[in-house]
Amino acid sequence: MNILLIGSGGREHALAWAIAKSKHTDTLFIAPGNAGMEECGKIVDLDVDDHAAVAEFCADENVQFVVIGPEQPLVDGMADVLRECGLKVFGPSQVAAQLEGSKHFTHQLCDEMNVPAAKYKQFDALEPALAYLADQGAPIVIKADGLAAGKGVTVAETLEQAEAALRDCFDGSFGDAGASVVIEECMVGEEASLFALSDGKDIVLLPSAQDHKRAFDGDKGPNTGGMGAYSPAPVMTAEMLERARKEIIEPSIKGMAARGTPFTGVLFIGLMITAKGPKLIEYNVRFGDPECQVLMMRLKSDIVELLTACADGTLGEETPEFDDAVALTVVMAANGYPGSYKKGTQIKGLDAIDGDNVKIFHAGTKRDGDKLLSNGGRVLNVTAKGRTVQEARDRAYAAIDQIDWPEGFCRTDIAWRAIERG
Ligand code: AMP
Ligand code: GLY
Repeated sequence: MNILLIGSGGREHALAWAIAKSKHTDTLFIAPGNAGMEECGKIVDLDVDDHAAVAEFCADENVQFVVIGPEQPLVDGMADVLRECGLKVFGPSQVAAQLEGSKHFTHQLCDEMNVPAAKYKQFDALEPALAYLADQGAPIVIKADGLAAGKGVTVAETLEQAEAALRDCFDGSFGDAGASVVIEECMVGEEASLFALSDGKDIVLLPSAQDHKRAFDGDKGPNTGGMGAYSPAPVMTAEMLERARKEIIEPSIKGMAARGTPFTGVLFIGLMITAKGPKLIEYNVRFGDPECQVLMMRLKSDIVELLTACADGTLGEETPEFDDAVALTVVMAANGYPGSYKKGTQIKGLDAIDGDNVKIFHAGTKRDGDKLLSNGGRVLNVTAKGRTVQEARDRAYAAIDQIDWPEGFCRTDIAWRAIERG
């Protein structure tokens, strides 16, 4: 079948790589794509914000299945528009995408279904929020309710920081996303990322992963979209996986179905493993980036079968297989990221890197003749597999040593928690 993949990040390059390997794929179209994804399919010049134009492209090119990578088009309702045109789609409806699009929506579902999450209160105005803050004290977490490009969350160590974050939200720094604010208890523990495919009723749990959100070594510096990941995450023991499934994921999927708004696609469960067990930090309604890169590196089954089963309601028949190996990815970002950075700097040395155990997924890259240029904040995901986390890490950093890109940087300590555990 002909497939259209929407997105342009490292996550989508990894998905495109997996989709291109499927026996079900005839032509894979990718929009907007990046330089690395040219190896996987046809990059098409399509305005992906124009959902009607996307539907028209699918009709013209006989596309039968659309995979939506990022959250914004899902929250904007792209899946609904395409389904109304008779297309098969991987990704939730606009209403179900509120699990990522609104923190308050998710808290209400958690309350309804008794899902363990942070204690919280929602506010539409500054004064009552300030009063609640004074009452609660610090540390405390302030969240803009809506999508804020990963910048809407402040884990405040002091009341002053919390107040400043609240004022930012209500001053309009995050536009409409900050008109409603959620104040949460600060949870303590180790974080992990879990992914569950769902067709609205059944779920298939994928292996765990761990992300590295801070920009610099030692988990220092500003929050980013993620500077590296590895899978599996040792903190997710069999017992924790089972508890997360029973206490968090199953009731959430059941709750969405009971409301008449079933969730289909991939649910990304951001977890805090606290002293009392797993608690939900947040839901996202798409694969993690860069977690997806390590999952695709380990996936042995045909991804198109899994993704179409979510759309067809036949997920109960699927039991995907994953490589026992550890996969690890290191993000190379443009100097200055997540603040301001230059685009258009040349990257050399990628051609010399190959092998079954190393794969470079592109994020912000573009081609200019023979040259490969940076075209974003997160630029490359150097991804490796190994029998141990140490072996995977050594392979990834050996590949990075061959890359000639003075305008880029990466963390040198990806997977430090797993390595410290021994
Ligand atoms: P994101 O929503 O991905 O921008 O990042 C939120 C990050 O903030 C999470 O990965 C956690 O590290 C942290 N966080 C969010 N909510 C809480 C909470 N209630 N308690 C402690 N940390 C939190
Ligand atoms: N790596 C975290 C995210 O994709 O939101």
